[in-house]
Amino acid sequence: MSGKVFLIGAGPGDPELMTLRALRMLQEADVVVYDRLVSADILNLHAEGARLIPVGKAPKCHTVPQDRINEILLEEARAGHTVARLKGGDPLIFGRGSEEAAYLMAHGVAVEYAPGITAAQGASCSTGVPLTHRGLATSVQYVTGHRQADKVLDLDWKRLADPDTTLVVYMGVANIGQIAMGLMTENLPGSTPVLAIGNATTPDERRLVSRLDQLANDVRTSGLKAPTLFFIGKVVSLYAEQPMADILERAHG
Ligand SMILES: C[S@@+](CC[C@H](N)C(=O)[O-])C[C@H]1O[C@@H](n2cnc3c(N)ncnc32)[C@H](O)[C@@H]1O
Repeated sequence: MSGKVFLIGAGPGDPELMTLRALRMLQEADVVVYDRLVSADILNLHAEGARLIPVGKAPKCHTVPQDRINEILLEEARAGHTVARLKGGDPLIFGRGSEEAAYLMAHGVAVEYAPGITAAQGASCSTGVPLTHRGLATSVQYVTGHRQADKVLDLDWKRLADPDTTLVVYMGVANIGQIAMGLMTENLPGSTPVLAIGNATTPDERRLVSRLDQLANDVRTSGLKAPTLFFIGKVVSLYAEQPMADILERAHG
């Protein structure tokens, strides 16, 4: 009898941000196939005796190719196991979860999902910067700052350079200079505030406040590394005014 695969979003790092469904599925699994961005605190919630298979991908260093990950999931499910495929954030946002699900379903394996809090939501609440705010941003766009196999970044700069939208850039550290330039070329002001958040919701969280025309330089000198997100837009002006992180810090002691 074929087993099944739970495609689980582990959230951005803090175990308290996992859903109850994600936790239940993780604890039902006898095999856990996990990504690099899944924190140890979350991984350690697995069932006793579960077998752990790391398939983590670091930028420019794909330890296990995607095709092989698909095969591992299929082999484990066909062996009758309940497999937890544990991913950072949400499995269906820049997570290749849909590619894995399509492969498994095409081979007759049942897939069930547990959504996760995506990094943008986690970082928004840990920094207190809202992604939408009346009078500042009426919408939000998530965009990847990275292209497969280092292809040229051919984003629709005109659509992204909307002063009434909050732009959240995932995987953007390496290309942040190009991203800032593309937005300014489409008339997003150089004074637009930017907040970069590294390792959001973890004890290693780092923040950098900058503006579009100084961003590349500030990121370089700060030494910020992946995983980092960029919030670009007027909502970032609320950062100092609404120190939600300090409030949370006080609440947790
Ligand atoms: C392959 S994408 C995975 C996104 C994930 N599926 C999600 O929904 O958050 C990896 C990128 O997500 C962002 N990211 C993930 N976790 C993060 C965190 N804790 N803090 C900041 N950025 C994070 C970074 O931009 C990182 O390069």
